[in-house]
Amino acid sequence: MAALFRAADLPAREPAKKHCHPQWFAYEDRVSRAASDFSEPLQQVDGTHIRLAGRKLIYFGGCDYFRLSQHPIIRRAVESGMREHGLNPAASRFTTGNHQLYERLEAELGSFFRTETATLTSNGYSTNLIVAQALQGSFSHALIDGRSHRSLFDSTAYLDCPVIRFSHADPAALQREIRRLPAKATVLLLTDGLFGHNGRLAPLREYLEVLPPRSQLVVDDAHGAGTIGRHGRGTCEVLGIAPERVIQTISLSKAFGVYGGAILGSRKFRTRMIERSGFLRGNTPLPLPLASAALSALSVLRSDRSRRAQLQRNIGRVQEQCPDCIYPPSPIIGVHPRTIAHGGKLSEHLLKNGIHPPRIRYEGETDYFRFALSSEHRPAEIEKLLGVLRCCDAFA
Ligand SMILES: Cc1ncc(COP(=O)(O)O)c(C=O)c1O
Repeated sequence: MAALFRAADLPAREPAKKHCHPQWFAYEDRVSRAASDFSEPLQQVDGTHIRLAGRKLIYFGGCDYFRLSQHPIIRRAVESGMREHGLNPAASRFTTGNHQLYERLEAELGSFFRTETATLTSNGYSTNLIVAQALQGSFSHALIDGRSHRSLFDSTAYLDCPVIRFSHADPAALQREIRRLPAKATVLLLTDGLFGHNGRLAPLREYLEVLPPRSQLVVDDAHGAGTIGRHGRGTCEVLGIAPERVIQTISLSKAFGVYGGAILGSRKFRTRMIERSGFLRGNTPLPLPLASAALSALSVLRSDRSRRAQLQRNIGRVQEQCPDCIYPPSPIIGVHPRTIAHGGKLSEHLLKNGIHPPRIRYEGETDYFRFALSSEHRPAEIEKLLGVLRCCDAFA
């Protein structure tokens, strides 16, 4: 088991090592895990702090962009949902497991996102699998942004057609791939809306312009839904795209701070999913207290716009000082260290300044740091982060 930033891994004349406090390596050893293991367990202290190996640190990780998971209204909704409805309907919604809470939540989601229907799923990951099961055999080719979420890649296994990757967020690359297809090709385009690793928005308008007739666009807006847009309707709202033009998949575990997922689309598509998706038919739905919490989270995000405004103010603070490190209105700062040693130095400085290093490891990719702002971060916490990033030359 190798810890990535052990002293022995750093080159002998690595300048960062000169100033390294020996205790820091001991600390890193305690919290580092092998790349093939889960990351170190964290303990939440409050909206912007976690505890790690006994230390309280400022937290810029995760996707709870409004910290709704800790909101008293949401906690109370979980408790009352449990009391009134119990935990688990213990059956699929097609047998005896349907419940009025699910139907209310679907109606509220449809109204929040202004879509004809919303179909609830037990998590965000499965939304994309369900959509693909419903679309199996309907397209001659699938085109997918090369940096899409893993659940979108997994979903393509159900499509029964060749799958072509195109360069990240690049309409010209998409157009080149489309030009290579036979004249009668029917295309399914799959992409994230707001990319969770770097905060970019997919150029959906440009995609719609180059797609051949009878194409369909599937947008996984797990990070955008609830987070961005004047009304919190996500990437489509920000880019001015009518929801009818796309099938959207969302997660309730990020901006909504709860758990679960939903597919937003037409009535016709909902019927098709119900008829054709084994996952949707055979899966036990979301636990009832979580459906109750999701209803409350929707109502908080609908009635209280101040959280979205506060998040945008925090994003604006970062943009003012460091315009190239963030893609407003996205709250994410992705930092890719130039070398392992540089990453180690950044980790070290973050820890020295009381900030948890949100180092992300995905199989087959180099480590990077993903900082996510929330509406709850205070200006001083953001200043501290920017100070460390500047000092470590993180954006050079
Ligand atoms: C883009 C994207 N899609 C889907 C998911 C899966 O959502 P969930 O965690 O609700 O299963 C994630 C989770 O990180 C995600 O980032």
